Amino acid sequence: MQNIIEIENKHTAGTYAKQSLIIVRGQGASLFDIDGVEYIDCAAGHGVANIGHGNAKVAEAIYKQASTLITLFETFPNDKRAALMEKITSLVPGLDRVFLCNSGTESVEAAFKFARLSTGRKNIIAAMRAFHGRTYGSLSATYNKKYREGFEPLVPGFSHVAYNNIEALDKAVTEETAAVILEVVQGEGGVYPATAEYIQAARRICDERGALLIADEIQTGFGRTGQMFAIQHFDVTPDILTCAKSIAGGVPMGAVLLGKSVKNITPGVHGSTFGGNLLACAAALATLDVIESEELPRQSLVKGAYFRDKIRALHIPGVREVRGLGLMIGIEMKQKVAPYVKALQEHKIIALNAGMTVIRLLPPLVITYEQIDHVVNALAEVLMMEPEAE
Ligand SMILES: Cc1ncc(COP(=O)(O)O)c(C=O)c1O
Repeated sequence: MQNIIEIENKHTAGTYAKQSLIIVRGQGASLFDIDGVEYIDCAAGHGVANIGHGNAKVAEAIYKQASTLITLFETFPNDKRAALMEKITSLVPGLDRVFLCNSGTESVEAAFKFARLSTGRKNIIAAMRAFHGRTYGSLSATYNKKYREGFEPLVPGFSHVAYNNIEALDKAVTEETAAVILEVVQGEGGVYPATAEYIQAARRICDERGALLIADEIQTGFGRTGQMFAIQHFDVTPDILTCAKSIAGGVPMGAVLLGKSVKNITPGVHGSTFGGNLLACAAALATLDVIESEELPRQSLVKGAYFRDKIRALHIPGVREVRGLGLMIGIEMKQKVAPYVKALQEHKIIALNAGMTVIRLLPPLVITYEQIDHVVNALAEVLMMEPEAE
């Protein structure tokens, strides 16, 4: 067992702070370590495993497709890809074209290229605290300097405005703005939901000035917040919607949904070798079927409200705020949360942080009420710990 950790530590590029826990299997909202010890997963691979681990329908779809045809460049039409394209563009009325890629950051890169191409403008406005990815375009829209430092110069034309501040957005968007990109609930930045007024104002401001509105739903998509996409809480249709993470049940995939206002996309302007590969398409079709047939968005809404209410009812003095939407939950503490996340792991719960002072819970949407109660009981104990001396 030590050997596995040593091998990874020896050969990793070094971009990840490795845990000393070797996870080998998952089922539903549970993960199991190499000794068979069970953990409740409140991270879902950073918001990927919305349908839970070890889903038999998805495994079967992957197996069948793998033994039929895995790869086919998108210039050649295919039954599985066509089915997925038809399905995914039915999820948001008005967004009826899709560009398929392989990750969140790739979908954001594509969105920026399409926005510049479509408008002939250069400027992109993002929000403070935003996280949109780590490649050069998406990193230029990401706000926190911890991700940006050491990599400058970034892409020109990007600026940031205060989130949930209509006046700031109104001032910033001009007739030279290609696009405004917003997370509907900021994830990495600390689990901050947008207000309905803000998202609706963003739509109006973009319309007035001819800019495109990009909703980054990479973390909030596919039921995570209690709707298929979070922006559907607010009755707003973006021009471009980026998604990835949970789209294909854990198989890498990204997608960019496009409205009629996005123009000038012609053969050759963008592309991806693996984009739209059939393994990912089959996995995504099966995943979307599970999300819909098990009504996971509705489950997320109800369970999320239950979870937050239970945490609030603990009345922990060190908790400043419990917030979120659906099963995207942030517990803002008065002190740094790293020791609490570690202590939760000792209680067999895998959680995330979002910045220094927020514990982030992103469990699979199939988490049971019994598991939620178990997590709440652990939180009751762990969050009462004395904060570590600075
Ligand atoms: C809102 C948002 N956008 C973009 C990304 C980047 O996605 P990926 O890690 O797949 O490149 C993330 C990842 O956490 C995200 O949460």
